[in-house]
Amino acid sequence: MRILLLGRTGQLGWELERTLAPLGEVYALGPQELNLTDLDALARQIREVRPQVIVNASAYTAVDRAEGQADLAMLLNAQAPAVMAKSARELNAVLIHFSTDYVFDGEKKSAYTEDDITNPLSVYGQSKLKGEQAIVETGCTHLILRTSWVYSLRGDSFVSKILAWARQQETLRIVSDQVGSPTWARMLAEITTAVLAQSLSAPQDYFSTRSGIYHLGGSGGVSRLDFARSILRLDSRANEQKVRALEAASTEDFPTPARRPLRTALDCSRFEATFGLHLPDWEECLRLAMSEQPTNPGP
Ligand SMILES: NC(=O)c1ccc[n+]([C@@H]2O[C@H](COP(=O)([O-])OP(=O)(O)OC[C@H]3O[C@@H](n4cnc5c(N)ncnc54)[C@H](OP(=O)(O)O)[C@@H]3O)[C@@H](O)[C@H]2O)c1
Repeated sequence: MRILLLGRTGQLGWELERTLAPLGEVYALGPQELNLTDLDALARQIREVRPQVIVNASAYTAVDRAEGQADLAMLLNAQAPAVMAKSARELNAVLIHFSTDYVFDGEKKSAYTEDDITNPLSVYGQSKLKGEQAIVETGCTHLILRTSWVYSLRGDSFVSKILAWARQQETLRIVSDQVGSPTWARMLAEITTAVLAQSLSAPQDYFSTRSGIYHLGGSGGVSRLDFARSILRLDSRANEQKVRALEAASTEDFPTPARRPLRTALDCSRFEATFGLHLPDWEECLRLAMSEQPTNPGP
């Protein structure tokens, strides 16, 4: 299998570069190799590699900054995926693309399914929705995997922020009114790779008969506050924590440029039924992720 992976330096892309390796030839590109704002260069690169599968883990993910950089967010989250989709159609390749729970407004009282109406509250959410629509419109074979609250212990995720804040502050105030499905970047990469591995021994129409949008996040929903509580409990270097109290705050207590949806737990049953895979509970994934935390941070 010849795979073109875009966004190899991101939380998800970093994991994918490793999990995809056994499937065949992987051409992994980050911003240093290809700046995705150059849409002609992107199309050229795809034509040169002639991949059977394009895995797009790249995105403009700075939710607050996007409010003032709408053009750039649209370019990276909508126009670049449109070029990938068009190129995939020309090559008869499959496009695997990641989208977000922020395409929803968070007003629903239960977990979101793929059939629920989208209504993004932020520029980031709008740009990701436009990306989904552009891919669907080209008619290429695609899997759009909507995920949420992606974290890894590398980089700047909610988990690494909580661990850092807990070492600096005695009291942490965390919002309790945002509920979502935390998703470990490693698990997302493993599951994506499992789908591609299945296709190797499946009939040629494996992807074309399954083309569409799927929800794919850590199973179950949790508030940011309870998520933070679990992170601190699983911290293998809890002796370094200064924090003595975790206090509940509301989203309104922390005004941000972008509005965030309050409740976006994802119902992932369509993905599980279609691909015969089990999505581990968010808490089990967090336990596995935290077990990789270095016990000795070194000099
Ligand atoms: N993070 C979340 O909580 C979350 C939630 C829901 C959905 N998602 C979706 O999941 C996917 C993966 O997210 P992630 O957290 O892994 O994102 P991430 O860590 O921000 O990684 C994004 C990747 O895109 C690259 N990129 C950005 N601008 C670029 C440009 N101009 N040219 C080339 N590459 C560029 C980044 O390069 P740099 O290394 O230079 O930044 C990085 O490799 C995205 O589609 C995102 O929308 C994420």
